[in-house]
Amino acid sequence: MNRILIVEDEAIVSLDIQNRLQRLGYEVVGIADTGLEALELARDEQPDIVLMDIHIYGDIDGIETSRLIRKEIDVPVVFLTANSDKNTIQRAQETGPFAYVIKPFKDTELNSTIEIALHRHKLEKELETRVQERTAELARVNDQLRREVAESQRIARVNAELEQQLRQSQRMEGLGQLAGGIAHDFNNMLTIIKGYSELVLGSIDQSGPLYDDVNMVREAAERATALTSKLLTFGRRQPLDITTFEINTTIRSALDMLRPLLGETVRVETELHPDPLFIHTDASLFDQVIINLSVNARDAMPAGGQINISTAIHSVQTEQINRFINLPPGAYALMSIRDTGIGMSEEILNRIFEPFYTTKNTGKGTGLGLAMVYSIVRQSGGQIDVHSAPDKGTNFDVYLPLADDQEATVAQEEPVPSTAQAVSQGTVLLAEDEQVVRDLTARILTDVGFDVLSADGGHQAVALAQQHEGPIDLLLTDVVMADINGCELARQISQRIPSIPVVFMSGHSRASLAQYGVQQEEFAFLQKPFSPQNLIDIVNEALSKRL
Ligand SMILES: Nc1ncnc2c1ncn2[C@@H]1O[C@H](COP(=O)(O)OP(=O)(O)OP(=O)(O)O)[C@@H](O)[C@H]1O
Ligand SMILES: [Mg+2]
Repeated sequence: MNRILIVEDEAIVSLDIQNRLQRLGYEVVGIADTGLEALELARDEQPDIVLMDIHIYGDIDGIETSRLIRKEIDVPVVFLTANSDKNTIQRAQETGPFAYVIKPFKDTELNSTIEIALHRHKLEKELETRVQERTAELARVNDQLRREVAESQRIARVNAELEQQLRQSQRMEGLGQLAGGIAHDFNNMLTIIKGYSELVLGSIDQSGPLYDDVNMVREAAERATALTSKLLTFGRRQPLDITTFEINTTIRSALDMLRPLLGETVRVETELHPDPLFIHTDASLFDQVIINLSVNARDAMPAGGQINISTAIHSVQTEQINRFINLPPGAYALMSIRDTGIGMSEEILNRIFEPFYTTKNTGKGTGLGLAMVYSIVRQSGGQIDVHSAPDKGTNFDVYLPLADDQEATVAQEEPVPSTAQAVSQGTVLLAEDEQVVRDLTARILTDVGFDVLSADGGHQAVALAQQHEGPIDLLLTDVVMADINGCELARQISQRIPSIPVVFMSGHSRASLAQYGVQQEEFAFLQKPFSPQNLIDIVNEALSKRL
């Protein structure tokens, strides 16, 4: 049964309406004769519909009362009016859902107006809920769409980053091969320059006019050797000597060495993680990483400034990708080196890891520092990230996988110095396919008293060993030769002369020779470029072990 509130100030009229409504089957929940009373009753009774006389006693008329009621309760109002003056009707219309009947009215008229008003109100409410539901749904769909667009933009961004990374690493790889190749050939030449200049130095008067000049040549060759060693690292021709060590300790001791290098106007602050952080890489090359990054920071602060070195644990949950790095999930030791220097433009940032890229004056920078750092970090399974902007300083982040601290290797004991007597006697079979290196080597050895059988390759060495009538005391061989490699030669010679000591020499590192099938402990190794003294020492040592 629909519940009706009547607002009518004439008692006779309101009673009449009440009777008629009850006859029509409605429940009358109250009769109000002023606006305020109507408001109160509406609040208390929550009727389904209000029948409202427009002209009532009091300060507020029916239209205003209706507005106030509807502000609080969503209820339709049917106005009762004695005349249909247009102004009044328009005012009534503005108060919201409404209908009106003009007095005097018949029961049927009253009944249908009420029913239509109720029905209309119901429809409007339904419509409103549907609109609300639809709006909510649209908002949901919109949201979903926005998320999908953001996700596909993110994927596109990541793909672009990855592509750029790939291009960058392919370029670096190519440059690395080139640099490594050049460095390797260069090493042979440096051996010759160093060797002959030392021979000359040993045979001329120290106070003579030539001595200083030749010494300059030798020193230049030393510097060039340091340079080729950097190039070899970059070109990955120099396998890392991996150990597990603690990063904070390493930074502290590197700093002791660095401070004088950085000058007085550069302050260094450290903020190291309180726990030991173990990493797994080449310790001496890691020193190089710290030194290169710090020296770059110093160079970026010609008028002085501050370097901050910090360490932290960085854990990656989902793959972290940007222009420079691509970190798979895991736990990393993060070393950050930040400076307050001149910073870098985008253009410079894009090229800093390229070998030979430098913005420093000729003679000041080789452009190999960061190329090396990049190569060392990558080869250790780590990544390097950089943030910088002109005049905003620079921050390098080096991420290295955290190692299990149990693996930490105990500091290697210093090898016991050999007590061998330098005998410098006996016959050395020498195999080296590079003629200048061969001649130099033979010359150094004969100068100190050895007999040397020189062969230009593996085959000739085997032939010489067959022809030679006296004993052969040692095999000194290059590793990579055009005919047979040094290891194969050593096998063949050992079949003929069991337990003959072998010394391998190479521009490649000792560790990289494993690929030729020899265990490291098995042989003595002479790294090119070598000095005459290196050569003599290693040959004597190998000979003395046999005795
Ligand atoms: N901390 C830094 N602040 C500003 N610019 C830097 C910083 N580190 C590197 N750069 C820029 O990157 C370039 C390349 O650095 P990289 O260390 O490879 O070579 P270099 O310092 O120029 O020479 P080298 O290290 O061989 O002496 C620098 O010339 C410089 O322009
Ligand atoms: Mg540098």
